[in-house]
Amino acid sequence: MTNQKVAIVTGGTRGIGLAIARQLKADGFRVAAVYGHDKNAAKAFETETGEKAFQADVSDYDACQKVVQKIEKELGEIHTLVNNAGITRDSSFHKMQPQAWHEVIHTNLNSCFNMSHAVIPGMRERKAGRIINISSINGQKGQFGQTNYAAAKAGMIGFTKSLALESASRKITVNAICPGYIETDMTSKISADILTAIIGHIPVGRMGRPEEIAYMTSFLASDKAAFVTGATLSVNGGQYMA
Ligand code: CAA
Repeated sequence: MTNQKVAIVTGGTRGIGLAIARQLKADGFRVAAVYGHDKNAAKAFETETGEKAFQADVSDYDACQKVVQKIEKELGEIHTLVNNAGITRDSSFHKMQPQAWHEVIHTNLNSCFNMSHAVIPGMRERKAGRIINISSINGQKGQFGQTNYAAAKAGMIGFTKSLALESASRKITVNAICPGYIETDMTSKISADILTAIIGHIPVGRMGRPEEIAYMTSFLASDKAAFVTGATLSVNGGQYMA
C-alpha cells in the first residue's frame, strides 16, 4: 500500500468508465475498476494500466460490500467512488417487459445505493471523500424508448442531492455528471438514422468523447472541488441546458 488516494470506478474497464479510470490514474490515484462480465476488457484494463479490475455485480448489495472490503484490503481506504456502471434496455413503454424495467433500475440506480453504502461509513469516519454519480442527459430531459433508463438516471440526481446534504458536514462531496451522447459501445447500438437525428440536436455538432466526461470527473475528485456538492453538471455539447 502507498500514500496514493484510492478511487473505485464501477464499469471502469470500458467506455466512459475506462476513460475515467485512466484519467484518475494520471491524476495520481490508485484505481480499482469494478466490472460485471467482460473478462477480456478486464484483462486489457489490467495490462494497460497496471491497476486491478475486480468482478462484482453492482446490483447485488452483498457483492458490493464484499468487493469494497477486498479493494480496501488490497489498496487502502477509499477516497473516491465513481458510480458509472450502467446498461440500457431501450423499448417503447407499451412494449417494455418488466425484466427490462427491473434490470435497468437495479444496475443503474440500486447500484448507487449498494456501492455508496459500502464506502460511506469509512468516508464519514475519515471526514473525507468524493462520490461522483454518472447520470445522463436523458435523466434530465427524458428520451423516447427510455422510461426505465431515464427513471434510473433521474433517480441518481435526487440520490446525489440528498446524500450531498447528509454528507456535507463530514467533508464528503456528492455530485452528478450528466453526459450527453458520448461515443461508446452503448451509443453504437442506436440505429444510424436515429443517431443522425440526435446529433442534429447537438449544437456543437458532434458526439462527445469519453475523455470529456473524465475531465469533469477528475475536477470533482480533486481538492479544487471541495465547495462543489449536490451539483448536477451537464457535459452534453449544448444539447440540453438544464
Ligand atoms: N421521437 C419521436 N418519435 C419516435 C422516436 C423519437 N425519438 N423514435 C421512434 N419514434 C416513433 C417512430 O417514428 C414510429 O412512429 P410511427 O408509429 O408513427 O411510425 C414509432 O415511434 C415507433 O414506435 P415503436 O414503439 O415501434 O418504436 P421502435 O421499436 O421502432 O423503436 C426505440 C423504439 C428502439 C426505443 C427507438 O426509438 C430508439 O432506439 N430510440 C433511441 C433511444 C436512445 O436514444 N437511447 C439512448 C441510448 S445511449 C444512452 O442511453 C446513453 C446516454 O445516457 C445518452
